[in-house]
Amino acid sequence: MPRQPFIAVVGSANVDLTTFYDSFPKLGETVFGKRFDLGFGGKGANQAVAARLCGANVAIVAKVGNDLFGPATIKNFQSLGIDASCVRIADGVSSGVAPIFVDPNGENRIIVVKGANDLLAPQDVDAAAPLLRRAQAIVLQFEIPLRTVYYAARFAKSNGIRCIVNPAPAQPVDFEQLRGVDYFIPNESEAETITGMPVHTAGDAKDCARYLLEQSVRRVIITRGERGCVWASNEDTELLPSFEVQSVDTTGAGDAFIGSFAVFLGEALPEKDALRRASLYAALSTTKVGTQKSFWARAEFEKEWQKLGSRL
Ligand code: RIB
Repeated sequence: MPRQPFIAVVGSANVDLTTFYDSFPKLGETVFGKRFDLGFGGKGANQAVAARLCGANVAIVAKVGNDLFGPATIKNFQSLGIDASCVRIADGVSSGVAPIFVDPNGENRIIVVKGANDLLAPQDVDAAAPLLRRAQAIVLQFEIPLRTVYYAARFAKSNGIRCIVNPAPAQPVDFEQLRGVDYFIPNESEAETITGMPVHTAGDAKDCARYLLEQSVRRVIITRGERGCVWASNEDTELLPSFEVQSVDTTGAGDAFIGSFAVFLGEALPEKDALRRASLYAALSTTKVGTQKSFWARAEFEKEWQKLGSRL
């Protein structure tokens, strides 16, 4: 049995309102959608849930609104066995919500309304410090104020805790504030927005990853959906392929990748093995509809790994 890591997420929690459509309405047009799904989401929450389903002990530091969704979000964490003692309810603001539109190929467009996520402050990191100090990894995304992300990254560094930053949604980054971060993991479009470099081909992704490394982070992984990912350190870059699956909804696949990667690394697997496993975990999540509800339990994942793992 691998050791059970403790992963802490400082990040967002949303409720996802997902509409599946055949044709997207033009301005002023009304069309019928195919199907609707309501579920728990938010990049931080999704990564916490993926880590938990992969078998880690998990805690999340987050803020939700005092509305229908806030208490339900906390209950969802608790029912999954995620420590939500540092999730606070904020008055006078909505919970984070995300209207999501999924096209017939399973590709998505997302509008995030941050709501209470925008109130997660460095003081909340301080308040959670005793919990965070016990973590093997702190996982961060960009759906909360960046000053909180930077503060938590510095907290991780000064406490010798592995720090994984997922810069999503993409925003201009002050890399000085992320100096020494262990993993910086954007997808292609985020990498493009952050650097201003084109990231279409594997070669582009490698160039972009090298540029990002020069900005002071220790490792860069650029995820490329069904085209795998590019891993880069100061010594080397490598293109890792992805697993072929029948995708129905890619929403949350990046979160599945990051949450599971944190766990596999925390189990002390060699880095490339952890990456390959995270790639399969992410690919499998696209075979089901929704975000958190599309993530696989560890036992089910292991069965697939036994069948497919050797193919990569
Ligand atoms: O990465 C997918 C997530 O992005 C969704 O769950 C949505 O809430 C947005 O945060």
